[in-house]
Amino acid sequence: MDIFRLKKTASGEIKRAQDLKALNTLYKKYLGKKGEVTQVLRSLKNLPAKKRQLLGKKANEVKNSLTILFDKKARQLKQKAVKEMEEKEWIDVTAPGKKPIVGHLHPLTQVKRKTEEIFQQMGFSVVEGPEIETEWYNFDALNIPKEHPARDMWDTFYLKNGRLLRTHTSPVQIRYMEKNQPPLRIIVPGRIFRHEATDASHEINFYQVEGLMVDKNVSASNFKAIIEEFFKRFFGKPVQIRLRPSFFPFTEPSFEIDISCLVCGGKGCSTCSRTGWVEIMGAGMVHPAVFKAVGLNPKNWQGFAFGIGMDRLAMMKYKINDIRLFYNGDLRFLQQF
Ligand code: DAH
Repeated sequence: MDIFRLKKTASGEIKRAQDLKALNTLYKKYLGKKGEVTQVLRSLKNLPAKKRQLLGKKANEVKNSLTILFDKKARQLKQKAVKEMEEKEWIDVTAPGKKPIVGHLHPLTQVKRKTEEIFQQMGFSVVEGPEIETEWYNFDALNIPKEHPARDMWDTFYLKNGRLLRTHTSPVQIRYMEKNQPPLRIIVPGRIFRHEATDASHEINFYQVEGLMVDKNVSASNFKAIIEEFFKRFFGKPVQIRLRPSFFPFTEPSFEIDISCLVCGGKGCSTCSRTGWVEIMGAGMVHPAVFKAVGLNPKNWQGFAFGIGMDRLAMMKYKINDIRLFYNGDLRFLQQF
């Protein structure tokens, strides 16, 4: 191609280049090692001297002016790129920040912590025990011998080695009294297990808070006062409770405690089986057989014990009508608390 035509074409293309990458390609095309202008310069050596001089001069001029053009265009394109970046990456330092997504505690954990806090304020220590128990701690020591029909109330899962999944937190009463002398005041929050068909108010796995207070002179009215105070602080308002006579092998007398249903306000709903009351705990005065099982003389000591259903507490507090919701991990449910 004629060297001047080449210059014209190249100049035109350089002017139209949209970005540095395109410009670089053009540079290679014309002035690179195998570029078109470079090839003209290389071919000079094959020409006769006179022609070589003439074309050599022109070709070098073209090369120089194209180099200048490239430099100029490169500067323009760089400026343009910087400007575009500045516009694109402009930061508004006054804009409000993005809230990071944070998790929160499961409603049952919240209830457990609140319960611990309230009882600790009333002088109770928080104690824990194993979820896998022996028959002795789960039954016999609590005055529920083998073949006693009361064992039917606490059907559970047995392990091959003869141990079982504890059906209540009551065995920790025994474990604690074996190692500690009264006077004592403890609560025992923990997970328990039942061999049970599940429905809106029954699970095979749930939570309890055991309580135990032993001293020289502890009465059922002390129990009532403490538990009323607990409910008042837990629900943030006085809650109506009622004690019904009941039976537990490890207490005498025994009672069950109902609170007026907070889901329906006592009117009657599916959670309270339309009675207006929800059974929330069992309790009673520690049976002499239990004191004997841990080597304490029942003539010297008196105490009350109780077991609260932690799931029921949470259901009342948050007005939840199905216990299974706590365990199925559905975020749409959990995110409400
Ligand atoms: N362990 C009983 C249950 O799971 C609840 C209970 C009742 C615990 C009376 C106690 C008590 O400490 O005194 O059904």
